[in-house]
Amino acid sequence: MSQTHTLIIGAGAAGMMAAAVAGQRGASVLLIDHSSKIGEKIRISGGGRCNFTNVALDGGDASKYFISQNPRFVRPALAHYTAKDFVQLLKMHRVTFHEKHKGQLFCDDSANDVIDVLRAECAAGKVEWRTNCAVKNIRLLNEDSGARFEVDTSTAGVWRCQNLIIATGGLSVPAIGATGFGYEVARQFGHTVTELSPGLVPLTFGNWAQDGWNALAGVALPVRVSAGEGKKAMAFDEDFLISHKGLTGPAILQISNYWQQGESIRVNLCPDVDLEKALRQGKVGSRMQLDTALTQLAPNLPKRLLQHSFEQAAFAPYAKHKWADVSDKVLRELAASLNAWTLKPSGTEGYKKAEVTRGGVAVKEINNQTMESRLQKGLYFIGEVMDVTGWLGGYNFQWAWASGMAAGMAV
Ligand code: FDA
Repeated sequence: MSQTHTLIIGAGAAGMMAAAVAGQRGASVLLIDHSSKIGEKIRISGGGRCNFTNVALDGGDASKYFISQNPRFVRPALAHYTAKDFVQLLKMHRVTFHEKHKGQLFCDDSANDVIDVLRAECAAGKVEWRTNCAVKNIRLLNEDSGARFEVDTSTAGVWRCQNLIIATGGLSVPAIGATGFGYEVARQFGHTVTELSPGLVPLTFGNWAQDGWNALAGVALPVRVSAGEGKKAMAFDEDFLISHKGLTGPAILQISNYWQQGESIRVNLCPDVDLEKALRQGKVGSRMQLDTALTQLAPNLPKRLLQHSFEQAAFAPYAKHKWADVSDKVLRELAASLNAWTLKPSGTEGYKKAEVTRGGVAVKEINNQTMESRLQKGLYFIGEVMDVTGWLGGYNFQWAWASGMAAGMAV
Protein backbone atom coordinates (compact mmCIF):
# COMPACT_ATOMS: atom_id res chain seq x y z
CA MET A 1 0.00 0.00 0.00
CA SER A 2 1.29 3.48 -0.91
CA GLN A 3 0.59 6.81 0.72
CA THR A 4 0.36 10.37 -0.58
CA HIS A 5 -0.87 13.61 0.96
CA THR A 6 -3.13 14.49 -1.98
CA LEU A 7 -4.49 12.23 -4.69
CA ILE A 8 -6.01 13.88 -7.76
CA ILE A 9 -8.19 11.96 -10.21
CA GLY A 10 -8.12 13.52 -13.70
CA ALA A 11 -5.04 15.03 -15.35
CA GLY A 12 -6.90 17.66 -17.36
CA ALA A 13 -6.80 21.43 -17.05
CA ALA A 14 -8.04 21.69 -13.46
CA GLY A 15 -6.28 18.56 -12.15
CA MET A 16 -2.86 19.59 -13.45
CA MET A 17 -3.23 23.10 -12.07
CA ALA A 18 -4.23 21.81 -8.62
CA ALA A 19 -1.40 19.22 -8.65
CA ALA A 20 1.23 21.82 -9.57
CA VAL A 21 0.07 24.27 -6.88
CA ALA A 22 -0.26 21.67 -4.10
CA GLY A 23 3.08 20.09 -5.05
CA GLN A 24 4.90 23.42 -5.10
CA ARG A 25 3.48 24.18 -1.65
CA GLY A 26 5.20 21.03 -0.36
CA ALA A 27 2.47 18.38 -0.46
CA SER A 28 3.16 14.95 -1.93
CA VAL A 29 0.79 14.63 -4.89
CA LEU A 30 -0.27 11.70 -7.04
CA LEU A 31 -2.10 12.59 -10.26
CA ILE A 32 -4.03 9.74 -11.89
CA ASP A 33 -5.65 9.58 -15.31
CA HIS A 34 -7.23 6.60 -17.01
CA SER A 35 -6.17 7.85 -20.45
CA SER A 36 -2.76 7.29 -21.93
CA LYS A 37 -2.40 11.02 -22.70
CA ILE A 38 -2.90 13.91 -20.33
CA GLY A 39 -4.66 17.19 -21.09
CA GLU A 40 -6.33 15.91 -24.25
CA LYS A 41 -9.08 18.53 -24.15
CA ILE A 42 -6.49 21.27 -23.92
CA ARG A 43 -4.77 19.81 -26.97
CA ILE A 44 -7.91 19.80 -29.14
CA SER A 45 -9.28 23.09 -27.82
CA GLY A 46 -9.52 26.34 -29.75
CA GLY A 47 -8.84 24.60 -33.07
CA GLY A 48 -5.51 23.33 -31.69
CA ARG A 49 -4.48 26.74 -30.32
CA CYS A 50 -6.35 26.64 -26.98
CA ASN A 51 -8.44 29.68 -26.10
CA PHE A 52 -6.98 29.53 -22.59
CA THR A 53 -8.71 32.53 -20.98
CA ASN A 54 -10.73 35.68 -21.59
CA VAL A 55 -9.61 39.14 -20.50
CA ALA A 56 -13.26 40.19 -20.02
CA LEU A 57 -13.19 38.19 -16.79
CA ASP A 58 -10.87 40.72 -15.20
CA GLY A 59 -13.31 43.64 -15.56
CA GLY A 60 -16.49 43.52 -13.49
CA ASP A 61 -18.71 40.69 -12.39
CA ALA A 62 -17.26 37.37 -13.63
CA SER A 63 -20.39 35.44 -12.68
CA LYS A 64 -22.35 36.76 -15.67
CA TYR A 65 -20.29 34.51 -17.97
CA PHE A 66 -21.31 31.32 -16.13
CA ILE A 67 -24.42 29.17 -15.85
CA SER A 68 -25.02 27.39 -12.55
CA GLN A 69 -27.76 27.03 -9.94
CA ASN A 70 -25.72 29.73 -8.17
CA PRO A 71 -23.51 31.62 -10.66
CA ARG A 72 -22.11 33.81 -7.83
CA PHE A 73 -20.29 30.71 -6.57
CA VAL A 74 -17.49 31.36 -9.08
CA ARG A 75 -16.64 34.87 -7.84
CA PRO A 76 -14.06 34.23 -5.06
CA ALA A 77 -11.95 31.73 -7.01
CA LEU A 78 -11.97 33.85 -10.17
CA ALA A 79 -11.12 36.98 -8.17
CA HIS A 80 -8.22 35.20 -6.50
CA TYR A 81 -6.79 33.67 -9.68
CA THR A 82 -7.47 35.98 -12.61
CA ALA A 83 -7.01 35.84 -16.39
CA LYS A 84 -3.97 38.12 -15.83
CA ASP A 85 -2.46 35.54 -13.48
CA PHE A 86 -2.69 32.78 -16.07
CA VAL A 87 -1.28 35.11 -18.74
CA GLN A 88 1.61 35.83 -16.36
CA LEU A 89 2.26 32.11 -15.99
CA LEU A 90 2.40 31.64 -19.78
CA LYS A 91 4.71 34.66 -20.13
CA MET A 92 7.03 33.17 -17.50
CA HIS A 93 7.31 30.10 -19.72
CA ARG A 94 7.77 32.28 -22.82
CA VAL A 95 4.56 31.13 -24.48
CA THR A 96 3.38 33.71 -26.99
CA PHE A 97 -0.30 34.37 -27.60
CA HIS A 98 -2.74 36.79 -29.20
CA GLU A 99 -6.23 38.19 -28.67
CA LYS A 100 -8.63 37.03 -31.35
CA HIS A 101 -12.16 38.21 -30.67
CA LYS A 102 -14.04 39.65 -27.69
CA GLY A 103 -11.16 39.21 -25.24
CA GLN A 104 -10.37 35.60 -26.21
CA LEU A 105 -6.68 34.72 -25.84
CA PHE A 106 -5.14 31.96 -27.99
CA CYS A 107 -1.64 30.48 -28.22
CA ASP A 108 0.26 31.75 -31.26
CA ASP A 109 1.70 28.35 -31.91
CA SER A 110 -0.05 25.34 -30.37
CA ALA A 111 -2.25 24.23 -27.48
CA ASN A 112 0.60 21.86 -26.59
CA ASP A 113 2.39 24.94 -25.20
CA VAL A 114 -0.22 25.13 -22.43
CA ILE A 115 0.14 21.41 -21.66
CA ASP A 116 3.94 21.83 -21.54
CA VAL A 117 3.59 24.72 -19.06
CA LEU A 118 1.37 22.62 -16.78
CA ARG A 119 3.73 19.64 -17.06
CA ALA A 120 6.69 21.85 -16.13
CA GLU A 121 4.79 23.35 -13.19
CA CYS A 122 3.89 19.84 -11.99
CA ALA A 123 7.52 18.78 -12.32
CA ALA A 124 8.51 21.81 -10.21
CA GLY A 125 6.11 20.51 -7.56
CA LYS A 126 7.49 16.94 -7.82
CA VAL A 127 4.06 15.62 -8.77
CA GLU A 128 3.91 11.86 -9.36
CA TRP A 129 1.93 10.70 -12.42
CA ARG A 130 0.05 7.54 -13.30
CA THR A 131 -1.59 7.38 -16.74
CA ASN A 132 -3.57 4.39 -18.07
CA CYS A 133 -4.71 4.07 -14.48
CA ALA A 134 -8.38 3.79 -13.54
CA VAL A 135 -9.85 4.11 -10.06
CA LYS A 136 -11.95 1.13 -9.03
CA ASN A 137 -13.06 1.96 -5.48
CA ILE A 138 -12.81 4.74 -2.96
CA ARG A 139 -13.23 3.98 0.76
CA LEU A 140 -13.45 6.29 3.70
CA LEU A 141 -11.04 5.35 6.52
CA ASN A 142 -11.33 5.63 10.29
CA GLU A 143 -9.91 8.82 11.78
CA ASP A 144 -7.11 6.90 13.56
CA SER A 145 -5.73 5.31 10.37
CA GLY A 146 -3.57 8.34 9.50
CA ALA A 147 -5.34 8.94 6.16
CA ARG A 148 -8.88 9.77 5.14
CA PHE A 149 -9.34 7.85 1.90
CA GLU A 150 -8.21 4.55 0.46
CA VAL A 151 -8.25 4.28 -3.33
CA ASP A 152 -8.02 1.04 -5.38
CA THR A 153 -6.47 1.65 -8.78
CA SER A 154 -6.25 -0.63 -11.81
CA THR A 155 -2.48 -0.39 -12.37
CA ALA A 156 -0.93 1.42 -9.40
CA GLY A 157 -2.18 -0.66 -6.47
CA VAL A 158 -3.87 0.75 -3.39
CA TRP A 159 -3.19 4.33 -2.28
CA ARG A 160 -4.08 6.17 0.92
CA CYS A 161 -4.44 9.95 1.04
CA GLN A 162 -5.52 12.81 3.27
CA ASN A 163 -7.10 14.75 0.45
CA LEU A 164 -8.88 13.51 -2.64
CA ILE A 165 -9.48 15.93 -5.52
CA ILE A 166 -11.99 15.00 -8.20
CA ALA A 167 -11.01 16.64 -11.50
CA THR A 168 -12.56 14.25 -13.99
CA GLY A 169 -14.36 16.91 -16.05
CA GLY A 170 -17.68 16.47 -17.84
CA LEU A 171 -19.19 14.06 -20.37
CA SER A 172 -18.34 15.82 -23.61
CA VAL A 173 -16.22 13.98 -26.21
CA PRO A 174 -16.14 10.48 -24.70
CA ALA A 175 -13.73 9.45 -27.49
CA ILE A 176 -10.90 11.23 -25.66
CA GLY A 177 -11.59 9.94 -22.18
CA ALA A 178 -14.60 11.78 -20.75
CA THR A 179 -16.56 9.75 -18.19
CA GLY A 180 -19.20 10.32 -15.56
CA PHE A 181 -16.89 9.01 -12.84
CA GLY A 182 -16.77 12.31 -10.94
CA TYR A 183 -20.55 12.33 -10.62
CA GLU A 184 -20.49 8.77 -9.24
CA VAL A 185 -17.94 9.76 -6.59
CA ALA A 186 -20.05 12.81 -5.72
CA ARG A 187 -23.13 10.63 -5.24
CA GLN A 188 -21.13 8.11 -3.19
CA PHE A 189 -20.41 10.88 -0.68
CA GLY A 190 -24.00 12.14 -0.61
CA HIS A 191 -23.69 15.02 -3.06
CA THR A 192 -26.46 16.19 -5.36
CA VAL A 193 -25.70 16.10 -9.07
CA THR A 194 -27.89 18.57 -10.96
CA GLU A 195 -29.45 17.62 -14.31
CA LEU A 196 -26.75 17.01 -16.93
CA SER A 197 -27.01 17.95 -20.61
CA PRO A 198 -24.66 18.84 -23.47
CA GLY A 199 -23.60 22.52 -23.54
CA LEU A 200 -21.87 24.67 -26.19
CA VAL A 201 -23.32 22.27 -28.72
CA PRO A 202 -24.80 22.45 -32.26
CA LEU A 203 -28.62 22.41 -32.40
CA THR A 204 -30.64 20.04 -34.60
CA PHE A 205 -34.06 20.47 -36.21
CA GLY A 206 -36.62 17.80 -37.10
CA ASN A 207 -37.32 18.53 -40.77
CA TRP A 208 -33.98 20.07 -41.65
CA ALA A 209 -33.28 18.01 -44.76
CA GLN A 210 -36.96 17.78 -45.76
CA ASP A 211 -37.21 21.57 -45.68
CA GLY A 212 -34.10 21.87 -47.80
CA TRP A 213 -31.92 23.67 -45.24
CA ASN A 214 -29.13 21.09 -45.57
CA ALA A 215 -28.59 22.34 -49.13
CA LEU A 216 -27.43 25.62 -47.55
CA ALA A 217 -24.71 23.90 -45.47
CA GLY A 218 -21.67 26.17 -45.29
CA VAL A 219 -23.59 29.46 -45.30
CA ALA A 220 -22.29 31.62 -42.45
CA LEU A 221 -23.11 35.15 -41.32
CA PRO A 222 -23.16 37.39 -38.25
CA VAL A 223 -26.52 37.22 -36.47
CA ARG A 224 -28.12 38.01 -33.12
CA VAL A 225 -29.50 34.83 -31.59
CA SER A 226 -31.68 34.80 -28.51
CA ALA A 227 -33.54 32.39 -26.24
CA GLY A 228 -35.73 32.59 -23.15
CA GLU A 229 -38.24 35.20 -22.09
CA GLY A 230 -38.26 38.05 -19.56
CA LYS A 231 -35.51 37.89 -16.95
CA LYS A 232 -34.27 34.62 -18.42
CA ALA A 233 -33.85 36.07 -21.94
CA MET A 234 -30.31 35.87 -23.31
CA ALA A 235 -28.88 37.10 -26.63
CA PHE A 236 -25.52 36.79 -28.41
CA ASP A 237 -24.12 38.70 -31.39
CA GLU A 238 -21.87 36.18 -33.13
CA ASP A 239 -21.55 34.22 -36.37
CA PHE A 240 -23.79 31.31 -37.12
CA LEU A 241 -23.27 28.51 -39.60
CA ILE A 242 -25.77 26.30 -41.41
CA SER A 243 -24.73 22.65 -41.37
CA HIS A 244 -26.09 19.43 -42.83
CA LYS A 245 -27.69 18.59 -39.47
CA GLY A 246 -28.85 21.98 -38.21
CA LEU A 247 -27.25 25.17 -36.90
CA THR A 248 -23.82 25.63 -35.39
CA GLY A 249 -21.13 28.34 -35.11
CA PRO A 250 -20.34 30.50 -32.07
CA ALA A 251 -23.79 32.15 -31.91
CA ILE A 252 -25.54 28.78 -31.70
CA LEU A 253 -23.02 27.21 -29.29
CA GLN A 254 -23.45 30.20 -26.95
CA ILE A 255 -27.25 30.10 -26.99
CA SER A 256 -27.28 26.30 -26.58
CA ASN A 257 -26.13 26.89 -22.98
CA TYR A 258 -29.38 28.74 -22.29
CA TRP A 259 -31.77 26.75 -24.49
CA GLN A 260 -34.12 24.25 -22.83
CA GLN A 261 -35.69 21.28 -24.66
CA GLY A 262 -39.09 22.24 -26.09
CA GLU A 263 -38.28 25.98 -26.31
CA SER A 264 -37.72 28.04 -29.45
CA ILE A 265 -34.76 30.23 -30.36
CA ARG A 266 -34.93 33.47 -32.34
CA VAL A 267 -32.40 34.42 -34.98
CA ASN A 268 -32.10 37.97 -36.25
CA LEU A 269 -30.50 37.46 -39.66
CA CYS A 270 -29.84 41.19 -40.19
CA PRO A 271 -29.32 42.64 -36.72
CA ASP A 272 -28.15 46.02 -38.02
CA VAL A 273 -31.34 46.79 -39.97
CA ASP A 274 -34.89 47.33 -38.76
CA LEU A 275 -36.37 45.72 -41.86
CA GLU A 276 -40.01 46.53 -41.14
CA LYS A 277 -39.23 50.23 -40.90
CA ALA A 278 -36.87 50.21 -43.89
CA LEU A 279 -39.28 48.23 -46.08
CA ARG A 280 -42.28 50.42 -45.27
CA GLN A 281 -40.43 53.72 -45.64
CA GLY A 282 -38.52 52.76 -48.81
CA LYS A 283 -41.44 51.37 -50.79
CA VAL A 284 -43.11 54.73 -51.43
CA GLY A 285 -42.89 55.42 -55.17
CA SER A 286 -40.30 52.65 -55.69
CA ARG A 287 -40.27 50.73 -58.99
CA MET A 288 -37.83 48.13 -57.63
CA GLN A 289 -38.69 44.42 -57.25
CA LEU A 290 -39.13 43.26 -53.66
CA ASP A 291 -36.21 40.75 -53.76
CA THR A 292 -33.86 43.43 -55.18
CA ALA A 293 -34.97 45.85 -52.47
CA LEU A 294 -34.16 43.30 -49.79
CA THR A 295 -30.68 42.58 -51.12
CA GLN A 296 -30.01 46.33 -50.98
CA LEU A 297 -31.44 46.82 -47.50
CA ALA A 298 -29.67 43.76 -46.07
CA PRO A 299 -26.48 43.43 -48.15
CA ASN A 300 -24.90 40.95 -45.66
CA LEU A 301 -27.66 38.42 -46.14
CA PRO A 302 -26.46 35.72 -48.59
CA LYS A 303 -28.80 35.52 -51.61
CA ARG A 304 -29.25 31.74 -51.25
CA LEU A 305 -30.38 32.17 -47.69
CA LEU A 306 -32.73 35.01 -48.57
CA GLN A 307 -34.29 32.99 -51.36
CA HIS A 308 -34.75 29.94 -49.14
CA SER A 309 -36.23 32.03 -46.31
CA PHE A 310 -38.68 33.53 -48.84
CA GLU A 311 -39.76 30.04 -49.87
CA GLN A 312 -39.97 28.63 -46.36
CA ALA A 313 -42.06 31.53 -45.12
CA ALA A 314 -44.25 31.41 -48.24
CA PHE A 315 -43.17 34.84 -49.49
CA ALA A 316 -41.81 33.48 -52.77
CA PRO A 317 -44.85 34.73 -54.80
CA TYR A 318 -44.00 38.30 -53.75
CA ALA A 319 -40.31 38.16 -54.68
CA LYS A 320 -40.78 39.61 -58.15
CA HIS A 321 -43.58 42.01 -57.18
CA LYS A 322 -43.02 45.71 -57.37
CA TRP A 323 -41.97 46.76 -53.86
CA ALA A 324 -44.45 49.67 -53.84
CA ASP A 325 -47.34 47.27 -54.52
CA VAL A 326 -46.66 44.91 -51.61
CA SER A 327 -48.95 45.55 -48.66
CA ASP A 328 -47.59 46.76 -45.31
CA LYS A 329 -48.96 43.58 -43.71
CA VAL A 330 -46.87 41.34 -45.98
CA LEU A 331 -43.81 43.55 -45.50
CA ARG A 332 -44.23 43.35 -41.72
CA GLU A 333 -44.45 39.55 -41.81
CA LEU A 334 -41.51 39.31 -44.19
CA ALA A 335 -39.42 41.57 -41.95
CA ALA A 336 -40.33 39.46 -38.92
CA SER A 337 -39.25 36.26 -40.71
CA LEU A 338 -35.76 37.77 -41.16
CA ASN A 339 -35.38 39.98 -38.06
CA ALA A 340 -36.97 37.43 -35.72
CA TRP A 341 -36.75 34.02 -37.39
CA THR A 342 -38.23 31.70 -34.77
CA LEU A 343 -37.27 28.02 -34.80
CA LYS A 344 -37.77 25.16 -32.40
CA PRO A 345 -34.73 22.85 -32.15
CA SER A 346 -35.59 19.17 -31.84
CA GLY A 347 -32.39 18.53 -29.89
CA THR A 348 -28.61 18.84 -29.97
CA GLU A 349 -25.75 16.93 -31.54
CA GLY A 350 -25.08 15.50 -28.08
CA TYR A 351 -21.95 14.89 -26.01
CA LYS A 352 -20.03 13.73 -29.07
CA LYS A 353 -20.00 17.31 -30.36
CA ALA A 354 -20.56 19.32 -27.15
CA GLU A 355 -17.68 21.36 -25.76
CA VAL A 356 -18.96 21.14 -22.20
CA THR A 357 -21.53 19.56 -19.88
CA ARG A 358 -24.26 21.73 -18.38
CA GLY A 359 -24.92 20.86 -14.73
CA GLY A 360 -22.79 18.82 -12.35
CA VAL A 361 -22.01 18.56 -8.65
CA ALA A 362 -24.29 21.07 -6.89
CA VAL A 363 -22.24 24.09 -5.84
CA LYS A 364 -24.26 24.75 -2.68
CA GLU A 365 -22.53 21.68 -1.23
CA ILE A 366 -19.02 22.99 -2.03
CA ASN A 367 -16.99 25.68 -0.27
CA ASN A 368 -16.48 28.49 -2.81
CA GLN A 369 -13.09 29.53 -1.38
CA THR A 370 -11.46 26.09 -1.27
CA MET A 371 -13.61 23.79 -3.47
CA GLU A 372 -13.82 21.39 -0.51
CA SER A 373 -17.00 19.37 -0.10
CA ARG A 374 -19.25 20.66 2.67
CA LEU A 375 -20.33 17.05 3.24
CA GLN A 376 -16.99 15.23 3.38
CA LYS A 377 -13.79 16.69 4.81
CA GLY A 378 -10.78 16.26 2.53
CA LEU A 379 -12.87 15.73 -0.62
CA TYR A 380 -12.61 18.43 -3.32
CA PHE A 381 -14.29 19.01 -6.69
CA ILE A 382 -12.69 21.24 -9.34
CA GLY A 383 -13.26 22.23 -12.97
CA GLU A 384 -16.11 21.10 -15.16
CA VAL A 385 -17.36 18.27 -12.93
CA MET A 386 -19.08 20.96 -10.88
CA ASP A 387 -22.35 22.66 -11.82
CA VAL A 388 -20.42 25.54 -13.41
CA THR A 389 -20.61 26.07 -17.18
CA GLY A 390 -18.92 28.97 -18.88
CA TRP A 391 -19.62 30.80 -22.12
CA LEU A 392 -17.63 30.00 -25.20
CA GLY A 393 -14.44 32.08 -25.28
CA GLY A 394 -11.91 30.85 -22.73
CA TYR A 395 -14.23 31.02 -19.71
CA ASN A 396 -14.27 27.28 -19.07
CA PHE A 397 -10.50 27.00 -18.95
CA GLN A 398 -10.22 30.01 -16.65
CA TRP A 399 -12.68 28.26 -14.34
CA ALA A 400 -10.51 25.12 -14.46
CA TRP A 401 -7.34 27.12 -13.62
CA ALA A 402 -9.02 29.16 -10.85
CA SER A 403 -10.82 26.26 -9.15
CA GLY A 404 -7.67 24.13 -9.46
CA MET A 405 -5.65 26.92 -7.85
CA ALA A 406 -8.20 27.25 -5.01
CA ALA A 407 -8.03 23.53 -4.17
CA GLY A 408 -4.24 23.38 -4.62
CA MET A 409 -3.86 26.21 -2.10
CA ALA A 410 -6.32 24.63 0.34
CA VAL A 411 -5.12 21.04 0.67
P1 FDA B 1 -10.86 17.88 -18.47
O1 FDA B 1 -11.88 17.24 -19.33
O2 FDA B 1 -9.90 18.83 -19.06
O3 FDA B 1 -10.00 16.75 -17.75
C1 FDA B 1 -10.58 15.62 -17.17
C2 FDA B 1 -9.55 14.53 -17.10
O4 FDA B 1 -10.08 13.49 -16.31
C3 FDA B 1 -9.22 13.94 -18.46
O5 FDA B 1 -7.82 13.89 -18.64
C4 FDA B 1 -9.84 12.54 -18.42
O6 FDA B 1 -9.11 11.59 -19.16
C5 FDA B 1 -9.79 12.25 -16.93
N1 FDA B 1 -10.79 11.28 -16.49
C6 FDA B 1 -12.10 11.24 -16.80
N2 FDA B 1 -12.68 10.20 -16.21
C7 FDA B 1 -11.70 9.55 -15.50
C8 FDA B 1 -11.69 8.40 -14.69
N3 FDA B 1 -12.80 7.67 -14.49
N4 FDA B 1 -10.52 8.03 -14.12
C9 FDA B 1 -9.38 8.74 -14.34
N5 FDA B 1 -9.35 9.85 -15.12
C10 FDA B 1 -10.50 10.25 -15.68
N6 FDA B 1 -12.73 25.74 -23.07
C11 FDA B 1 -12.16 26.96 -23.16
O7 FDA B 1 -12.15 27.69 -22.19
N7 FDA B 1 -11.54 27.35 -24.33
C12 FDA B 1 -11.51 26.57 -25.45
O8 FDA B 1 -10.90 26.92 -26.47
C13 FDA B 1 -12.19 25.31 -25.39
N8 FDA B 1 -12.26 24.52 -26.49
C14 FDA B 1 -12.83 23.28 -26.40
C15 FDA B 1 -12.89 22.47 -27.54
C16 FDA B 1 -13.46 21.20 -27.45
C17 FDA B 1 -13.55 20.35 -28.70
C18 FDA B 1 -13.93 20.72 -26.20
C19 FDA B 1 -14.51 19.34 -26.09
C20 FDA B 1 -13.88 21.53 -25.08
C21 FDA B 1 -13.36 22.82 -25.17
N9 FDA B 1 -13.32 23.66 -24.05
C22 FDA B 1 -12.74 24.91 -24.16
C23 FDA B 1 -13.83 23.22 -22.73
C24 FDA B 1 -12.65 22.78 -21.84
O9 FDA B 1 -11.87 21.85 -22.56
C25 FDA B 1 -13.13 22.15 -20.55
O10 FDA B 1 -14.08 22.97 -19.91
C26 FDA B 1 -11.96 21.91 -19.60
O11 FDA B 1 -11.04 21.02 -20.21
C27 FDA B 1 -12.42 21.33 -18.28
O12 FDA B 1 -11.30 21.03 -17.51
P2 FDA B 1 -11.33 19.86 -16.43
O13 FDA B 1 -9.95 19.73 -15.92
O14 FDA B 1 -12.44 20.04 -15.50
O15 FDA B 1 -11.68 18.55 -17.29
